Amino acid sequence: MTIKTATHNGVATIEIARPEKKNALTQAMYTAMAEALIAAQADKAVRSVLITGQPGVFTSGNDLEDFMQRPPQGADSPVFRFMQALLDTDKPVVAAVTGAAVGIGTTLLLHCDLVYVSDEARLAMPFVSLGLVPEYASSLIIPALMGHVRATEKLMLGEPFSGSDAVDCGIANAVLPASEVVNHARRMAERFNALPPEAVRQTKQLMRAPQKARVREVMAEEGALFGQRLRSPEAMEAFQAFFQKRKPDFSQF
Ligand code: COA
Repeated sequence: MTIKTATHNGVATIEIARPEKKNALTQAMYTAMAEALIAAQADKAVRSVLITGQPGVFTSGNDLEDFMQRPPQGADSPVFRFMQALLDTDKPVVAAVTGAAVGIGTTLLLHCDLVYVSDEARLAMPFVSLGLVPEYASSLIIPALMGHVRATEKLMLGEPFSGSDAVDCGIANAVLPASEVVNHARRMAERFNALPPEAVRQTKQLMRAPQKARVREVMAEEGALFGQRLRSPEAMEAFQAFFQKRKPDFSQF
């Protein structure tokens, strides 16, 4: 089981558990996460959601083999359904970033409500290095959070960054020792148990409302380009280089 779910003490936990592939996300895993989010939204006993990974890795992002073999097609694709489900939930979502968070591993954090990062974590959005473009409205939200020049380092150069950088940039709340990050995130998620749930949900809706329509528009624009880029020779070279464990060569383009 590569996505483990459990509800305990008001917290619905979604644990990404495919450590042998650094928690790379397949279509089946996106579907399982979307279903877990939809079930958590519907379950009155759930007051918050916790998304977490494995020691040393949160997720290495989309499974690159899947990208090559089964590129996502439009709004019905599992990845899009997952992204939509996370946007749609008005219950608070807490992330415990247990380690490497690559691609959607970082961009999904932009749609969580509290984010705690292990001191061993490295975050990265290497879309351009893979011949792709940003997704999940990161091309909108990242520059808005940190300004154009810092966004350029992260979104164009794909520079990895630490948990404390993520805090400085407004992506995360705090950095915790690796051994404590999940427990801390869980304790923070459990704090919603003592709060009036409707007021919490309405506050989240209000806080997200000003960006909501724009986020969806940008996701559609990014998604159209992303779909084209996945079939591009630049992306093919990048994916093949990853699996052949060599540096990509873009000099012929
Ligand atoms: N998709 C498919 N397989 C992946 C993967 C991914 N996103 N990330 C890691 N794996 C696989 C590797 O191919 C390797 O498989 P193997 O043991 O069969 O050779 C295994 O997971 C371990 O990965 P490895 O790269 O050896 O681990 P590492 O600790 O040296 O590095 C990462 C960890 C996350 C930094 C590195 O795996 C990485 O950069 N992954 C790709 C991230 C990426 O580009 N994601 C897409 C963003 S859009």
